[in-house]
Amino acid sequence: MAVEGNLLFGILVLANLLARSEVVTASHDSASFNRSSFPAGFVFGTASSAYQYEGAANEDGKGPSIWDYFTHSYPGLSLSLSLLNEGRIADGSNGDVADDSYHRYKEDVSIMKEMGMDAYRFSISWPRLLPNGKTSGGVNKEGIRYYNNLIDELLSKGVQPYVTLFHWDLPQALEDEYGGFLSPHIVDDFRDYAELCYKEFGDRVKHWITLNEPLSFCSGGYDLGILSPGRCSKWVNANCSTGNSGTEPYVAAHHQLLAHAAAVKVYKEKYQASQKGIIGITLISHWMVPFSKSKFNKEAAIRALDFMFGWFMDPITYGDYPLSMRSIVGNRLPKFSEEQSKMLKGSFDFLGLNYYTAYYAANYPYYNSINVSYTTDSQANLTSERNGISIGPVAGSSWLYVYPRGIRDLLIYVKERYNNPIIYITENGISEINNSTLPLKEALVDNMRIDYYSRHLSFIRRAIKDGVDVRGYFAWSLLDNFEWNSGYTVRFGINYGVPHTYDEGEGDPHNGFAAKPEMGSPLEGSGDHNECKTKISRGRRKPYPVAAATGGLLVELQMAVELDGGVVCEGRELWRSLRIRGADGG
Ligand SMILES: *[C@@H]1O[C@H](CO)[C@@H](O)[C@H](O)[C@H]1NC(C)=O
Ligand SMILES: *[C@@H]1O[C@H](CO)[C@@H](O)[C@H](O)[C@H]1NC(C)=O
Ligand SMILES: *[C@@H]1O[C@H](CO)[C@@H](O)[C@H](O)[C@H]1NC(C)=O
Ligand SMILES: *[C@@H]1O[C@H](CO)[C@@H](O)[C@H](O)[C@H]1NC(C)=O
Ligand SMILES: *[C@@H]1O[C@H](CO)[C@@H](O)[C@H](O)[C@H]1NC(C)=O
Ligand SMILES: *[C@@H]1O[C@H](CO)[C@@H](O)[C@H](O)[C@H]1NC(C)=O
Repeated sequence: MAVEGNLLFGILVLANLLARSEVVTASHDSASFNRSSFPAGFVFGTASSAYQYEGAANEDGKGPSIWDYFTHSYPGLSLSLSLLNEGRIADGSNGDVADDSYHRYKEDVSIMKEMGMDAYRFSISWPRLLPNGKTSGGVNKEGIRYYNNLIDELLSKGVQPYVTLFHWDLPQALEDEYGGFLSPHIVDDFRDYAELCYKEFGDRVKHWITLNEPLSFCSGGYDLGILSPGRCSKWVNANCSTGNSGTEPYVAAHHQLLAHAAAVKVYKEKYQASQKGIIGITLISHWMVPFSKSKFNKEAAIRALDFMFGWFMDPITYGDYPLSMRSIVGNRLPKFSEEQSKMLKGSFDFLGLNYYTAYYAANYPYYNSINVSYTTDSQANLTSERNGISIGPVAGSSWLYVYPRGIRDLLIYVKERYNNPIIYITENGISEINNSTLPLKEALVDNMRIDYYSRHLSFIRRAIKDGVDVRGYFAWSLLDNFEWNSGYTVRFGINYGVPHTYDEGEGDPHNGFAAKPEMGSPLEGSGDHNECKTKISRGRRKPYPVAAATGGLLVELQMAVELDGGVVCEGRELWRSLRIRGADGG
C-alpha cells in the first residue's frame, strides 16, 4: 500500500471531506466484461501484508519489528498532547491485533474461496521467523508453523500463495544493531532470511516477491519521516529526531536493491531448478501527466517517473540508476560496483506493479544547495489540480485521486522503456474514510469502489490488447486493515469490517477490527488475548453474500449482513465483497 503524505513535492492535500461528497455513478455498461475477457490463466487475487493483517504482535515467539516499535513509540495525537510533536499514526493506533489473521487465517481463506479468488498475496513477517533478525539468532518454529498452516489452507482451497518476503516490518533487532537498511550488513541477513523461506515454504510457494515498494519504504522512512523508521532532516519534518533526507533515502534504497539481488541470486542458484517457482519484486508508481505541453513539463513528468519508479526499475533492468538521478543527485547517490551491477541486471522473472493514482508534474528547478532532499531532487512539482480542476475524484486517502487510464499509460510506458517484462498488478484499490457515524447501510454502498475496479480492469484489458504482458491482478485489499500512518481512519477492504462494540475497559477500539490488548509496549506482553478471543468468537467474521449484482460484470457488489441468529448483536459482521465471477463458478 502506498502511504498518506506527499511522496514528492507539493501535492495538494484536499480536505478528506471531499471523498464522501464525491458521487460516482456506477455506470458499467462501457466496462462489461468477465473472466473470459482476460487471457487464459490470468490470475485474480487479493493482497495483504503481515503487519497490516496478522496482529499477534507479541505472540508465540515473534520478535518486535520496526513497525511495532514505531507505532508504540510515536502513536499520535490521540494518546497524549505531550507527544504532539512526535505523533506519527493518525488515530494513535497500531497493528497489535489488526485483522487478527494470525488466529483467523482460515476464515480469511474461506472468504477468498467464496469470492472465487485464484491467489492470495501475503507477506511473511521476518521477525516472526527470526526474532533476532538473523538465522544465527535462532528460528522461531511457531512462526514456521503459522505460515505452513496458512499456505496449506490456501492450497487446500485452490488458492495459490504469492509471497512477499519484505513488506516493511524489519526486525527491530537489526535496526538496533546496525541501523537496518542503512547498513550493508542487511544484505547478507536478508539473503539468509530469504533462503530460510525458500527452504521451508518453496516446495509449495511458486511466486516470490522480494520487496514491497522500496520507494515508499525509503521516501516515507528516510525522506519524509512519516513511516518507520521515521528518519529525516528536521527541515523536512520537525517530528524527526534524526536522519538526513538528502542522503539516507538513497543509501537505504541502494541496500534494498542489493538485498533484492542477493535474495534472487540464491533462489536462482540453489532453489529454482528444483522448486520451479519464479521470483520478482513489487514496485509502485503513480502515473505522471505533464502539467502542460511545454518541453520542460514533459521532461519533469519523465523525471518524476525516474525518481519514483526508475530508481528501482532501471537498476534491475539495466544495472544502474536512471541518468536523470545520477546527474542531479551526484555523489549523494551511491554507486554500484561492476559485480553488483551485473547481479542486479535482469534480477527478476516478473515485475509486481502497484498502481493507485496519478498526478500532474511541472518542472520545478530547485536551487537551494543546503536543504536538499530526495523530494526536492526530483525537481518536479506534483499537483492534483490544473486550472482548478482535479485530475480525478479524491478517495478517503488524501493522496489518492482516481485516474483509471493512468494504469494503461503506465503499463505501456513500462513495456516500452523496460523491454516488455512479465507483469503482475500486485496492488490496485481505493479507500474511503472510516466514518463511524455513517449508518451501516450507507457505509456499504460501494459505488465508488465498484467503479474504480471496473474502470481499472477495463484499462488493464486494453493494455493487454496493446501487447503488455500482464499475467494477473491483485486487489488491495482483502479486508479493511491497518493503513500505516493513517491507522484505521481509512478503509481499503473489498470486505468491510466492523469493529466490535467494546465493553468498559476492554481496550482501545482504535487498534484493530476486533478487540485490542493493552496499549503497552508489545515487547512486554500483549494483554489478555484469550479474553479478547472469547469475546471475538461470538463475532467470527462470516461472509454471507446477499448479492446486489450489478449485472454481468467481473466486478460485482455484494452486500451482506450477518446477524447472530438474526439479531444485531455484538457479533454482527457486515461484508462487502468484490466477487470475481468466472466460468469455474463464482
Ligand atoms: C508531526 O506529527 C503531528 C502529530 O501527529 C502531525 O499532525 C503532523 O502532521 C506531523 N508532521 C509531519 C510533517 O508529518
Ligand atoms: C534550511 O532549512 C532551515 C529550517 O527550515 C532554515 O532555517 C534554513 O534557513 C534553510 N537554509 C537554507 C539555505 O535555505
Ligand atoms: C506547484 O504547482 C501548484 C499548482 O500549479 C502551484 O500552486 C505551486 O505554487 C507550485 N509549487 C511550486 C513550489 O512551484
Ligand atoms: C460521516 O457520516 C455522516 C452521516 O452521513 C455525515 O454527516 C458526515 O459528514 C460524515 N463524515 C465524514 C468525515 O465524511
Ligand atoms: C473507525 O473509526 C472509529 C471511530 O472514529 C473507531 O472506533 C474504529 O475503530 C475505526 N476503525 C474501524 C475499522 O472502523
Ligand atoms: C463472458 O462474456 C462473453 C462476451 O460478452 C460471453 O460470450 C460469455 O458467455 C461470458 N462468459 C461467462 C462465463 O459469463
